[in-house]
Amino acid sequence: MSMQRILDLLNQRIGLDAESIGPETVATAVRRRMEDVGETGLTAFFLRIEGSDAELTRLVEEVVVCETWFFRDSEPFIHLMRFARDTWPKDRVFRVLSAPCSSGEEPYSIAMALLEAGLPAQDFAIDAVDISERALNKAELGVYTKNSFRREQLDFRDKYFSSQGKGFKVRDHVKSLVSFQPGNLALDFFESSAGPYDVVFCRNFLIYLDKDAKNRVAKELHRLLRPDGLLVVGHAEAAAMLAGPYTPVRHPRSFSFRPSNGATVMEFTTPNQPEPPPVDWDMTLLRQVRSRMTWARKATQAAFQEPRAVEAQEAPIAEVSAQGLAQCRGLADQGRLADALAACEELLEQDMMNTEGHHLAGVILHALGEEEAAERALSRAVYLDPHHQEALAQLALIRANAGDEVGARRYKDRADRALSRREGDVEVAR
Ligand SMILES: C[S@@+](CC[C@H](N)C(=O)[O-])C[C@H]1O[C@@H](n2cnc3c(N)ncnc32)[C@H](O)[C@@H]1O
Repeated sequence: MSMQRILDLLNQRIGLDAESIGPETVATAVRRRMEDVGETGLTAFFLRIEGSDAELTRLVEEVVVCETWFFRDSEPFIHLMRFARDTWPKDRVFRVLSAPCSSGEEPYSIAMALLEAGLPAQDFAIDAVDISERALNKAELGVYTKNSFRREQLDFRDKYFSSQGKGFKVRDHVKSLVSFQPGNLALDFFESSAGPYDVVFCRNFLIYLDKDAKNRVAKELHRLLRPDGLLVVGHAEAAAMLAGPYTPVRHPRSFSFRPSNGATVMEFTTPNQPEPPPVDWDMTLLRQVRSRMTWARKATQAAFQEPRAVEAQEAPIAEVSAQGLAQCRGLADQGRLADALAACEELLEQDMMNTEGHHLAGVILHALGEEEAAERALSRAVYLDPHHQEALAQLALIRANAGDEVGARRYKDRADRALSRREGDVEVAR
């Protein structure tokens, strides 16, 4: 039996796209669990996890990425404070959902932000859900070490935490504002969940799901949100939301959406902006691209004569690029955006034709608030692959944030066409 059946099972049960973390990561987790339970055969281990929720949960604990910290990305919390101040209903409880919440840093940050925004504690409530029991136990305990405090400004720590040994314990009045519960967002959580919520934080989760699970979650979140509510996603997830019934909300470095009714609608409040900046290929860049193109042409010609020699030439570039991309993604996931960008630039110096590298650089630059540079990087990705759906959708988002309705609509239409084309390809392949 191959590892694929285990990957398929994880996909069915938690929506995991193994490619997002690397199938090797899953394989390592499987090996670790097999050692723990003294199982030597893959088939026996598969039957064990297939037949027991508890066993599967133990594997899931090893596979999920629980990386999180207080006030991660900062700006979404500032956006939340403004939104809460502007829309606080006063005659009912203001409700927020953090899904997934990992070990509690996100929902506690939400609680502190709302207190700072001036909402009385009895006027808001925060629900927080995650699949990982280990993470939820830590959240309930509320004791954190340095790793959870990655911001330079730590005034909030002095105000809302007390020292406990080498760690910091969240104070009881903040703790009481958050209700934690276990739940599988890819399977059955939404059946039992009670909306509607004024705000839903769903960040750094969709990136790990396959397309179907992503769509399902996006649809369910729409149902849980109040019609005038706010959905906040992670920077790498924002472009995907444009495929669903959401309208982007303009706030720099906060990737937020309002639900729109039924069909995908893009609404804007400011008049058109100038055309997006042209792709700024400088001369060095162009020379490098041309030399790579010449190299690629020669390699293609040679491929018909000496296939093995060409394979030997191509493999190192592809391998180095794949490793480089994985490293950039890893750094970005840890919130080390400047390091991720530097790694991306290094990768692109060696491999100028790397479409994914340009796309990733664009996403990171967008998260850093460098919208013009992000647009240039994404335009390069689209130049290299005119049907790059994610890059087109990200460009639509940037144009939308700039208030450029026409530009956004143009990119959005292209992204939709690229998606239909890709789905068509999948159908044909089946
Ligand atoms: C990277 S953390 C994100 C935490 C927080 N939202 C943030 O942005 O800092 C991803 C979390 O997703 C949780 N998770 C993964 N699959 C899940 C699922 N199917 N249902 C619920 N939670 C899941 C993991 O346990 C992990 O805690």
